[in-house]
Amino acid sequence: MTDPAPKPEITPLSINVREMDIDDIAPVFHLGETLFTSDLYPYIYRTWDQWEVIGLYNTDPEYCLVATAEDQLAGFILGTIITKASWTYGYILWLGVSPLFQRRGIADMLVDKLVERMIVDGARFMMVDTDPENTPAVNFFSRKGFSNPRRHIFLSMNLSKHEYYGRLLAYEREKAERSAWTRPRRRPQKS
Ligand SMILES: CC(C)(COP(=O)(O)OP(=O)(O)OC[C@H]1O[C@@H](n2cnc3c(N)ncnc32)[C@H](O)[C@@H]1OP(=O)(O)O)[C@@H](O)C(=O)NCCC(=O)NCCS
Repeated sequence: MTDPAPKPEITPLSINVREMDIDDIAPVFHLGETLFTSDLYPYIYRTWDQWEVIGLYNTDPEYCLVATAEDQLAGFILGTIITKASWTYGYILWLGVSPLFQRRGIADMLVDKLVERMIVDGARFMMVDTDPENTPAVNFFSRKGFSNPRRHIFLSMNLSKHEYYGRLLAYEREKAERSAWTRPRRRPQKS
């Protein structure tokens, strides 16, 4: 982990945390594009795209919050509730603060508001995951009281290079090509 960046000079701001509304979808998506880069999230399953925002706004609107500062989007948090057996977990899926507004307590406010809502809805446990190299996030969540970090190993395989799966892929590709060749042509229309 690298040394924390020095804390910048800050001027007081009036920050408002509220539920996301439909007009926030595009700005939230674009802010996320600048924050959740492939350096931070190299795995495709954790890729940021517009469906993350649209999907969560659709399924969990009460856990999609934005922070505005001087009427500008400053940050957002998107979460969900997971119920397993008798446990209810709150899961922070995405948290982002614009670089213009970082280190001013905005993530702090977003997390507090989300956790308050999740407690009301039965959560007794909170979860979040991020890359171990993401020092700002690891520091932030540790300071917030998240603990017990576990490293998770991701493995991947290029199927076309595998002895058996590669042959299977080639077979499927040939089958698709053959069926394209043998597909009956449309008969000319009778006049
Ligand atoms: C992580 C992130 C959400 C923090 O937002 P923030 O509004 O700046 O956080 P806050 O001001 O509420 O909290 C600040 C604390 O977070 C940690 N922190 C934030 N930025 C940091 C940095 N650049 N270096 C080290 N620690 C940092 C520190 O503990 C800091 O406390 P301090 O200011 O007293 O040192 C923000 O850096 C971000 O959007 N990062 C990119 C997206 C991301 O990684 N999201 C998290 C995973 S989904």
